[in-house]
Amino acid sequence: MGKILVTGGLGYIGSHTTVELLQLGYEVVVVDNLTNTTLDVQDRILQITGKSFAFYQVDVCDTDQLMTVFEKESISGVIHFAAYKAVGESVEKPVEYYHNNVSGLISLLSCTKKHNVHSIVFSSSCTVYGDTKLSPITEEHPIVEAISPYGTTKIIGEQILKDYANFSEARVVCLRYFNPVGAHSSALIGELPLGVPSNLIPYVTQTAAGIREKLTIFGNDYNTPDGTNIRDFIHVVDLAQAHVKAIEYSPNMNMSFDVFNLGTGKGHSVTEVVEAFERVNNLKLNYAYGERRAGDVEQIWADATKAKKLLGWKTTIELDEMMRSSWAWQKQLAN
Ligand code: UD1
Repeated sequence: MGKILVTGGLGYIGSHTTVELLQLGYEVVVVDNLTNTTLDVQDRILQITGKSFAFYQVDVCDTDQLMTVFEKESISGVIHFAAYKAVGESVEKPVEYYHNNVSGLISLLSCTKKHNVHSIVFSSSCTVYGDTKLSPITEEHPIVEAISPYGTTKIIGEQILKDYANFSEARVVCLRYFNPVGAHSSALIGELPLGVPSNLIPYVTQTAAGIREKLTIFGNDYNTPDGTNIRDFIHVVDLAQAHVKAIEYSPNMNMSFDVFNLGTGKGHSVTEVVEAFERVNNLKLNYAYGERRAGDVEQIWADATKAKKLLGWKTTIELDEMMRSSWAWQKQLAN
């Protein structure tokens, strides 16, 4: 395979995927507009891998500039991460979310179409399943109306890609992530949340670092063994490796469009996660139980059998290592 274009390749999941691709000897081209990351991630990737890659500070919504990248580089596949991803923010800024996530994808597809790039991997989310009681959940589960504009952009994105794949030579793989957490073992790359984090793990690590005073666990009266929500937390390196498998799989797919769940297949409660964080890092976290958060699904975890079978991928990193690496990353951010 020739060069792989990674849009949003300096972001959280994008940077880990770029590392995995480079380590496997792929030539990588990264496009990122730096709205949710910093340029030094480029050097950090170089430090980890010892390998350089082409970088363009380009917004995927800018079709002319993106087209220039396709003209300069001979790209054979695209992994598309560049998108906004905060559920709460999307409720306040729906137009921005639809513009960036949907127009960005359409802009990218005009480039892939013009340059005959057929292999496409898309970041989707388990949010497309809505509030289901059917965990472990398979890809057969129907897509339901999303509770946030962010979720809707993922549903629309999948639909656009399905239609595009059906009427072109494209081979599209949509990857539905459960809850990505953790950081690279080098602690050189990880998640860089802007402002007050809304996701659990950045809030936990920032509380442990003294940046936030206290973690509130949103609700302990759910119908689960300890009363707190259950999620399928997946280490970002395992997730990144699935993208490599997916881009390798796409040219040989029998169908033009396919979707895969990416999770460990195990659910952990929020309390279990917080306790694991305290135990592996040998510290006490200031936390308390509070009200439920609007829009939270009670419990959801993946059936990831399909990815195992067809992509030849499985997760190898357990919850303890997710918690250890998250804290190692947070600690180095202070340096
Ligand atoms: C959400 C989205 C998911 C998206 C992901 C990453 C939905 C249903 N899910 O997942 O699509 O990919 O964000 O942006 O839209 N929690 C606390 N205290 C906190 C923060 C979180 O108790 O301060 C709890 C939540 O109530 C939840 C769990 O931790 O039970 C995980 O929350 P979070 O990290 O925000 O992810 P999700 O809501 O599961």
